[in-house]
Amino acid sequence: MTIAPILPASPGKLPLSDYKPLGNAELSERIEAGRKKLGKRLLILGHHYQQDEVIEHADLRGDSLQLSQLAASSSECRTIVFCGVHFMAETADILANRPEKLAERNGRRVDVILPDMAAGCSMADMAAIRQVEDAWDQLGEVIDTERLIPVTYINSAASLKAFCGRHGGIVCTSSNAAAVLRWAFERGERVFFFPDQHLGRNTALKMDITNEQMPVWDPYAEDMGGNSAQAIQASKVVLWKGHCSVHQMFRPEHVAQFRQKIPGIKILVHPECPQEVNDIADYSGSTSSILKTVEQSPAGTKWAIGTELHLVNRIKKENPEQEVHFLSPVVCMCATMYRIDLAHLAWVIENLLEGVVVNEIMVDEETAKQSLIALERMLEVK
Ligand code: 13P
Ligand code: SF4
Repeated sequence: MTIAPILPASPGKLPLSDYKPLGNAELSERIEAGRKKLGKRLLILGHHYQQDEVIEHADLRGDSLQLSQLAASSSECRTIVFCGVHFMAETADILANRPEKLAERNGRRVDVILPDMAAGCSMADMAAIRQVEDAWDQLGEVIDTERLIPVTYINSAASLKAFCGRHGGIVCTSSNAAAVLRWAFERGERVFFFPDQHLGRNTALKMDITNEQMPVWDPYAEDMGGNSAQAIQASKVVLWKGHCSVHQMFRPEHVAQFRQKIPGIKILVHPECPQEVNDIADYSGSTSSILKTVEQSPAGTKWAIGTELHLVNRIKKENPEQEVHFLSPVVCMCATMYRIDLAHLAWVIENLLEGVVVNEIMVDEETAKQSLIALERMLEVK
C-alpha cells in the first residue's frame, strides 16, 4: 500500500497548540461565535461519518455525492471548511472554483479548508497515479484501451480523476455507481474500476457481470497485475486491488450472529463491504440510501447496520422508534475522519477571523481542469 505524504499544516496566525488544551464547551462556543461573525461568507460542510460534536456545527451534511453537489452549487460563500477527508476537499475545490463559477464571481476563488491535513483516506492511498498509468500501459498490450473506460471512485486523489477525464472516463460515488457503470458500458466494452474493488464488484454483480469477468489488478504484482492476458481479454470489469479499511471489517459471521440472536432483524450494509457480506445482507446501499431506508421503515423495525460507527450511532439516536444495532462486535470507525475535531475547527475559523486561511486545499490548474471533465460527466449521470 502506498501512503500519501501527510501534507504540512499551515502555521496560521493563531497556533493550533493554543486550542488543544481547551474543553469542548469553550471550543463550541468559539466556533459558533466565529460562524456568526463570518455569516454567509463561511460554509461548513460535514460528511455523515463525522463525530456528533463536529457535525453539530456543519451548515450542511451529506454523503460524498451530496457534498460534491453542494460544493458545485455554492455561490455566496467565500470559504468552505470541509469536515471530511482530503479527497473531498480537493473535489470541493475543483467544483467550487470551476471556470463558470469563477466567472460568476468575477474571478474570486472560494478557499477550501481541510481542518486537519492528516485527514486522508487509506483507500484513496491504495492507488497512486503512476501505478494507474503503468496498469493502463500494460492493459494496452493485450486489449484496446480505446474501448476501456476508466471509472474512479470519488474516494481517490485528484490526479486519478484527471486521468479519467483524459481517457474518456468518469467519477462515481457509492450513490451513483450503477448508473455510472451503465454510462461507461454505453461508451466502451470494458471498465477499469479503481480504487475500491468491493464497490466495483458489488455493483457489477447486480448487473449480471460475473466474478470470472472481473479480474483483480494487483499494482504490486510483477506482470499484468497478477493476471493472464486471457483473463484480461475475457474481462468486463478490471477491479483495482483496493479496499476501505473500515468496511472491510464487517464479516459474514457478524450477520449470522445477529440473525441468530434477533430473529427478524434486517441487515443493511454499505457496498464498500466485501461481497460475502453484501450477498447475504437484506439491503446494500450508499450512505444516503442507508439513512433513507431506516427513516422510511415502520416503527419497531430491527436493523443491524454495517457502515461507519459514528453514522450508525447517529442513526440510532435520530430514529428512536427503530431498533438499531452496529453490525460488528469491534469498533469500525474512520480514524482519519475522526481527526477533524473541535480544536481544529475552532483553530481554522478563528484564523479566518484574523484574515488568515490555514490548511487550504488547492488542486493545480491542469489537474483541476482534467478532473472537472470526469466530475461533470458524473454530475450529469442520472
Ligand atoms: P458515501 O459518502 O458515498 O456513502 O461514501 C462512503 C465513504 O467511504 C466516504 O468516504
Ligand atoms: Fe476512506 Fe473508508 Fe474512511 Fe471512507 S470510511 S474515508 S473510504 S477510509
